[in-house]
Amino acid sequence: MAITSESSVDAVAVAHPRPAFDPAVVRRDFPILDQEINGHPFVYLDSASSSQKPQVVIDAMADYYCRYNANVHRGIYTIGEQATAAYEQARARVGRFINAPDSHEIVFTRNATEAINLVSYSWGRRNIGRGDAIVLTEMEHHANLVPWQILVQEKDGDLEFIPITDDGILRLDVFEVLLRLRPKLVAFTHVSNTLGTINPVREMTEMAHAAGALVLVDGAQAAPHVPIDVQELGCDFYAFSGHKMLAPMGSGALWARRELLESMPPFLSGGEMIREVHLRRSDFNEIPWKFEAGTPAVGDSIGMGVAAEYLMDLGMDAVRAHERELVEYALDVLPREVPGIALYGPMDPSLRGGVVPFNLPDVHPHDVAQVLDRFGVAVRAGHHCTMPLHERLDLAATARASFNVYSTRGDIDALVAGLKEVQRVFDV
Ligand code: ALA
Repeated sequence: MAITSESSVDAVAVAHPRPAFDPAVVRRDFPILDQEINGHPFVYLDSASSSQKPQVVIDAMADYYCRYNANVHRGIYTIGEQATAAYEQARARVGRFINAPDSHEIVFTRNATEAINLVSYSWGRRNIGRGDAIVLTEMEHHANLVPWQILVQEKDGDLEFIPITDDGILRLDVFEVLLRLRPKLVAFTHVSNTLGTINPVREMTEMAHAAGALVLVDGAQAAPHVPIDVQELGCDFYAFSGHKMLAPMGSGALWARRELLESMPPFLSGGEMIREVHLRRSDFNEIPWKFEAGTPAVGDSIGMGVAAEYLMDLGMDAVRAHERELVEYALDVLPREVPGIALYGPMDPSLRGGVVPFNLPDVHPHDVAQVLDRFGVAVRAGHHCTMPLHERLDLAATARASFNVYSTRGDIDALVAGLKEVQRVFDV
């Protein structure tokens, strides 16, 4: 099967009127960026690891703790009811953000990792048996690999992997062959955290469904960067983290189709997820609360709802257009200005989110990151929780620059200047 440019993401970008998007204005919403690090203006290029938070999110959380901090679904008193209303409003906002047909299909989790574990423990243990195949890809983050390894080891199932091309594109021709195994589940990342590759979710979902498999999408790196419409994508499970989409750490969500959530057994158990408890048996709550045992992260979830609203106000089509323009600029300027730099991942910006991994000849990526920090530039170095992908590309580690709504061309210029300093320091 021919692998064509993943145009659906950018097609969404032109289908809606684009609100004015000015990164210089957006940047002012993020107080942390207005400081010097080691005597230089702070340049944050590690948003794939965690994003910074706009003032509205910080204010919303402070407001919760200052005015109505209380547990939810319990207190028959004013601030308890306010907290419950705000928590459920956050669920509705997060649901709107991904166009979920019903906000009760949004389960709050701590992050995408917990969302994927919820599916592997709950759906996986009931539905995967001896010899059943799960298809993953070679580019998965450990969060969408290790839970499935544990599951198939326990159930004597089988893992298969869609390989990638040398420039980090999934081999859909091999996927087609793997589907002849009639896998029960296909689980893959929407956007690669390491290479930035935007995978063709809709096309892959259609292929998987035609073969009788369910589809789980790891959206941790997509949620803050590309417009997401789970109804349009057609997948069955969509997992994402709040902290990568301008929301607090400790917030995240799983979306799944109602009938799946209703048929799945609880994951964690205890208070809140029950309807009635007797000494020897319990009945469980309705979705989504059946999957939210114990006191939830109320303040963090409220922050996630406000972050979703903030991104929707910016317009996810405009956000994608901005980040695509930054990727285009980085892919153009880095090889021209930094001698010998190696770039990885798709060179076509329409196939790549705001992630640019690279290496300098004869300098370890940890050294690159350390010297860049002296100039106020923060990048991540290492295997980025994708050790099998690095093995596939025959790389011990990479340095990685990654963008978000507040990133600018000026940040990329500072990276280029910093990399020249790295080369001067190491005399390469
Ligand atoms: N998954 C995060 C990253 O890619 C931590 O850096």
